[in-house]
Amino acid sequence: MEVQEVERLIKISKEKPLLPETFVPWNIPPLPDDEFLPEKLNSLAGLAFYDTLTPDQKRELGRHEAVQVMYSYGWSEALFCLFMNRYILTLQPDNVEYRFLLRELIEEFRHQEMFAQAIAHLNGKPIKPTRLHNIMGQFTVKFMPADAVFMSCLAVEMMADLYGNHLRKGAKVYVVLKKVAELHNIEEGRHIHFTKAFLKRYTHNASFIRRSFYSYLVLFNVFFMRTLYVKKEIFARIGLENPDVVFKMASKNYQYKFGQECLKTIVQFVDEWGGFNKATRWAWRLLLKANV
Ligand SMILES: [Fe+2]
Ligand SMILES: [Fe+2]
Repeated sequence: MEVQEVERLIKISKEKPLLPETFVPWNIPPLPDDEFLPEKLNSLAGLAFYDTLTPDQKRELGRHEAVQVMYSYGWSEALFCLFMNRYILTLQPDNVEYRFLLRELIEEFRHQEMFAQAIAHLNGKPIKPTRLHNIMGQFTVKFMPADAVFMSCLAVEMMADLYGNHLRKGAKVYVVLKKVAELHNIEEGRHIHFTKAFLKRYTHNASFIRRSFYSYLVLFNVFFMRTLYVKKEIFARIGLENPDVVFKMASKNYQYKFGQECLKTIVQFVDEWGGFNKATRWAWRLLLKANV
């Protein structure tokens, strides 16, 4: 990316900061008909079983799953900040990337605070990532090389962006969550723009093996995030019988839904640098139900 372009992004970040304290109308309570998550994103909608739920159970499912999504992003952003702190130590303070990443860090910390506030606002009780999620997340940001971590982060940011778009545009979504999603969308748009340009130096002319490696990185990160959303405990919380059975049903349903609703821009991005080939395409189809 041209230096002037990065300078432009830094300037916007400094001159038009979006503060969750003032941007989000925290004092507006939800209306009785408000949704916390558009139905098309919850794990059960689409199944005949979903129609047997009471309106209250449907709304509660949306609330718990929205909390889970926000918690997962906050958690992954905290991991990314850990990496960025490590990475900027390798740069000089007059370096334009250094200055952009500092702005990104500031924004990411504000996002984490905003998500935490939104979770508390919804009276949410997030379910923690598993030990395996923790080990893999920490290993990635502490030990993997910069290109691999930026690629991983970009995958998660693009996912957050898609989810945010659905929330922002959902006609019945609670206004506080709409504004949380809007703020996040605007700032992540700049991060994504920067990271894509940053990664071009690695993906441009990359070998078959390297392109396959990047493709798997994106795939596993998306897969990894997806497994943080649908949780058995939530079905017990909303009073459904046999949460184990419901969990199996919901996980399967969500896999397909996710492939349809949430992968478009990610697939475009991977396709741009030839990340789909005979070594990777089958895994995208099998694990993410992607149309590639
Ligand atoms: Fe963020
Ligand atoms: Fe970001």
